[in-house]
Amino acid sequence: MNDTSFAIHPGKSRKIENSDYQEAGDVLAIEECRNGLKARTETGELRIVFYANEIVRITMNFFGEADAGTSPAVIGGLQEVKLEHYESGDQAEVKTSCLTVKLTKSPLRITVADAEGRVLAGENQKGMGYKHSKEVICFKNMEESDQFYGFGEKTGFLNKRGEKLVMWNSDVYAPHNPETDPLYQSIPFFLTLREGQAHGIFFDNTFRAEFDMRGDEFYSFSADGGQLDYYLMAGPSPKDVIRQYTSLTGRMPLPAKWAIGYHQSRYSYESQQEVMELAAAFKEKGIPLDSIHLDIHYMDEYRVFTFDRDKFPDPEKMISDLKEMGIHIVPIVDPGVKEDPEYMVYKQGIQEDLFCKYLEGNVYYGDVWPGNSVFPDFTSKKVRDWWGSLHSYYTELGIEGIWNDMNEPAVFNESKTMDLKVMHDNDGNPRTHKELHNLYGLLMGKSTYEGMKRNLKGKRPFLLTRAGYSGVQRYAAVWTGDNRSFWEHLQMSLPMVMNLGVSGIPFSGPDVGGFAHDSNGELLARWTQAGAFTPFFRNHSVLGSARQEPWAFGEKYEAIIRKYIELRYTWMPHLYSLFAEAHKEGTPVMRPLFLEFPEDEHTWNLSDQFMIGDNVIIAPIMQPGTFHRAVYLPEGMWTDYWTGSTYEGKKHHLIKAPLETLPIFIKKGTMAAHGEAGAAGPLTLHLYYEEGSECSYTLYEDDGETFAYEEGEYREICFKVKCEEGTVYLNSAIAGTYEPVWSTVQLAVHSRENVRLKIGSSTLLPEKIEEGRHYFILS
Ligand code: GLC
Repeated sequence: MNDTSFAIHPGKSRKIENSDYQEAGDVLAIEECRNGLKARTETGELRIVFYANEIVRITMNFFGEADAGTSPAVIGGLQEVKLEHYESGDQAEVKTSCLTVKLTKSPLRITVADAEGRVLAGENQKGMGYKHSKEVICFKNMEESDQFYGFGEKTGFLNKRGEKLVMWNSDVYAPHNPETDPLYQSIPFFLTLREGQAHGIFFDNTFRAEFDMRGDEFYSFSADGGQLDYYLMAGPSPKDVIRQYTSLTGRMPLPAKWAIGYHQSRYSYESQQEVMELAAAFKEKGIPLDSIHLDIHYMDEYRVFTFDRDKFPDPEKMISDLKEMGIHIVPIVDPGVKEDPEYMVYKQGIQEDLFCKYLEGNVYYGDVWPGNSVFPDFTSKKVRDWWGSLHSYYTELGIEGIWNDMNEPAVFNESKTMDLKVMHDNDGNPRTHKELHNLYGLLMGKSTYEGMKRNLKGKRPFLLTRAGYSGVQRYAAVWTGDNRSFWEHLQMSLPMVMNLGVSGIPFSGPDVGGFAHDSNGELLARWTQAGAFTPFFRNHSVLGSARQEPWAFGEKYEAIIRKYIELRYTWMPHLYSLFAEAHKEGTPVMRPLFLEFPEDEHTWNLSDQFMIGDNVIIAPIMQPGTFHRAVYLPEGMWTDYWTGSTYEGKKHHLIKAPLETLPIFIKKGTMAAHGEAGAAGPLTLHLYYEEGSECSYTLYEDDGETFAYEEGEYREICFKVKCEEGTVYLNSAIAGTYEPVWSTVQLAVHSRENVRLKIGSSTLLPEKIEEGRHYFILS
């Protein structure tokens, strides 16, 4: 970051790449194995195994037998598939109803095609091989129309064609620039969009890995060690790919409702009094608030599982008083445990051998907030169980949410992390930190989430994490780390969160207002507008920066910020239904437009707009002094949420957006459910009438805090609507036993005069007409 021109000194240029590249060698023999084939090659073994008809795993070990084990990312097992297998001369083929894998034996090349024979991943001149006797690499043909998405948490624009992306969990406080890579998460998965159809590749290798999408003819993925082990998912729609990827790596549990509300944070609210005053200010100003985060100052000299009793004399009372006000406390818990023989966590961990150590047996020490510290070895189940149980300290105080930070793990040294020579226990199968580094955050998340879940006895825990690997969605929401109060960082947060969603992580968001540097009223207002629709919604800022609470910049901005925090709650029934969809299918809540309109090339690199579900477009203002913007509306007719004006799709429109306006568009002929903040008020189904249209809308509701939904205590209503000649025909199918607490359920029909409602044989006339909307009471 403070590089001088010396960084590009000619003497520093790298050796010619690929000079040491060795190919896999020829196939010598092929035999069948469960769900696939095994092929012996000159030096190693190749396995081709179908996990499902649409998912094939390809594993090449260049130096020995292919290992059928997986990283902890994978929880999906093998499904029954019907295989066909042919072999003749230099060719072999194995296929299911959806995928065909063709092998050429000499030299070994693999081509994967779909049921129509469309090649998804082909290998021409280059196949796969290794470098320097350990780095593994695989090349695939790149087609002219290929667009690439996913890769987890990356800066830059939505489409990653032309980029090189590295997977190595890193603590990056330096500004997140377009070329700053890697950041905190490693999600070695991407989705290729080719002429409206999609397929995916998940490269399950936990070593430092690289995806090089810069060429025209080839792309490659490589890692510093291990096997070449990847899964190819057939799609064919982008949503199918995400569903297939999350069938392997898991989906998010249903969030506690409070966790998808508004969170207020600061590094740090430093005392009990300050926290109570903050909560009182929210109440007094009538700004809804679900949670306050406690950053590192709440602890006794940064010892995790403690409170500083001078500054927080009665945390239990603070937490229960806040709960009465409907506010949850989320304390930060970092992995670094302070070296202090009088501190229970350190003492127990040392005595029971629970911290990361070298092969030789000496414990690894590194410097983090508490000074010299040790790090739990989360690769061991014993350690995960111990750490998880320690969280009874928090749950007994009434805490239901935890914030995991610094879990790359971050260490204040030159390499920014733990010594790569540290040998993790890995449940009796020791591996170096070099190999397991990228798993540290995921496994800390597993330990924390599972421990909290045990301790909370039926209540849903909330976990927020900075670091992770594929599968992290099973345990935690992700915030995108130390951004800055720059307009550019607001801009960059959209494609970053959209690509996280494509990567199986539907619950994420940036620090609203920006973490480092000083925010200002206009930036905070515009960021809160966008934040009201990002899946995770938290305002957070660094020590010493300008205060960033909703009222920090005066009444003019406070009013706008309040309006958009309230809007979050108005949209809650719609958002919660989308979280339920993410839980069931993996489909993200916040979506890039190409997910819904994959054939429309205007969506392929559209980074400054997003969708909420399949029918709502959000187009935030992300520049200062800007009160208009171009909005692209895809196929269909679209209604302006605020004015009710109709816009034609497949066109760009110049939209007016004064400071108090976030441009929102709803597709005509679709629905969205609204509620009211906190109260058991009316549930309103808004229908944007379009003559001749038919649509369905699934509304999901449950108690929002327990796991009773797993026993069927939820309410899922699938509404089916037809609009014809001024009549709305409504059908609904109900599943689940939960009784929602809405006072009434009403239908509001927009954009049509003189509307009647028909449910079965009965015809209803509107109860009232307000602002051109016809309201019908449904129950
Ligand atoms: C890291 C986190 C940040 C937090 C700070 C102090 O920089 O990313 O969110 O406030 O540490 O704990």
